[in-house]
Amino acid sequence: MLTTKNDTAFGHGVPTTGFAHEGTPGASATFDVQRIRADFPILREIVHGKPLVYLDSANTSQKPESVIRAMDDYYRHANANIHRATHLLSERATKLYEGTRANVARFINAPDAKSIVLTTGTTDGINLVAASYGRMVLKPGDEVLLSWLEHHSNIVPWQILCEQAGARLRVAPINDLGEIDIQAYEHLLSDRTRIVAISHVSNALGTINPVRHIVAKAHECGAVVLLDGAQAVPHLVVDVQALDCDFYVFSSHKMFGPTGAGVLYGRKSLLEAMPPYRGGGDMIASVTFEKTAYNQVPYKFEAGTPNIAGVVGMGAAIDYFGSFDRAAAQAHEDDVLAYATERVRAIPGTRIIGEAADKTGVLSFVLDHAHPHDVGTILDREGIAVRTGQHCAQPIMDRYGIAATVRASLAIYNTREDVDALITSLARVREVFG
Ligand code: ALA
Repeated sequence: MLTTKNDTAFGHGVPTTGFAHEGTPGASATFDVQRIRADFPILREIVHGKPLVYLDSANTSQKPESVIRAMDDYYRHANANIHRATHLLSERATKLYEGTRANVARFINAPDAKSIVLTTGTTDGINLVAASYGRMVLKPGDEVLLSWLEHHSNIVPWQILCEQAGARLRVAPINDLGEIDIQAYEHLLSDRTRIVAISHVSNALGTINPVRHIVAKAHECGAVVLLDGAQAVPHLVVDVQALDCDFYVFSSHKMFGPTGAGVLYGRKSLLEAMPPYRGGGDMIASVTFEKTAYNQVPYKFEAGTPNIAGVVGMGAAIDYFGSFDRAAAQAHEDDVLAYATERVRAIPGTRIIGEAADKTGVLSFVLDHAHPHDVGTILDREGIAVRTGQHCAQPIMDRYGIAATVRASLAIYNTREDVDALITSLARVREVFG
């Protein structure tokens, strides 16, 4: 299976160049990136007459043939509602859906499949925890602690909660490299801190946060910790028991699965104590107009017909992670990121935003002679897909005093040749904008 008790929580692979991650075992196998690329049909696409160079996987990843096929097969041979009928198709659909739940539990080494709530994605998972756990525990004067590295989806739900509860949002600062100031974080923790919500990996800068330490310190103060793993799961082997976090959320679409499916892992005792988030079918044990008894966890949190095909596709995406050596893939990605960093840094007038010692997957930068949106437009005409803008992380941009960055983000299918294409096209940007 993919994730065992021996797996570390921070990712694998001793990189050939560049970034070394805490707790990484050595890469043992070579990584055949061309074989991986062949699994992703869209990578053969021609855009604006040029071969596609896809450098936007932090936004959404591409999908391998096996995921596309699993969803197609589901609709052809198993489409029915789950948990609600006795016919064969419903049995097939339920088996596939619940099979994915078990698969997710193994993937992140959760102790029990019942601690896995299937959601529509990271945003849904964070909103669920804020609305259910947050409203249950937060009192006026309590505090929720975030970092400056957070995506809007790990800021706004907590802001809404704090406004409703009369609680206070605190924010741990970052240094110029884009790393959380851990001393300041520890200083902000107190017996008023009820919840700590921090990204495992920053979507805008690629920083890998020292989450084991962050969790341990929060627990010393009696706070629970939610980790936003949306950008971590595609790159690192995640073990929620080793991390000892209370909640861990991520999205299928960033890890080669379809959009509209995701995961909330929760410590089972917490999930059991939490009130439901949304009411509806399947989350109940019995309903009368006088009183409703709720279903057991995790079903208590899964009201209504879910995105069954999406969950099936997510299961296939998890299986896909079993088709290659994770440590070797990590080493490959680190090599491409280090190469990209070096080449972009060498371009005159370029500033890299986010140079943490421990990074994965993301290279954000600005050019002094061109606005990121213009850069993105020119790159697109060259067949190169990047994201430009705030990356749903405006506070980070404010922290650096910039409006936007160009962000090249990587997955296992990217190569040094993709980076070379980016560099050639950035030279074209320079020609245009001087
Ligand atoms: N969270 C996605 C990104 O970082 C949308 O691009």
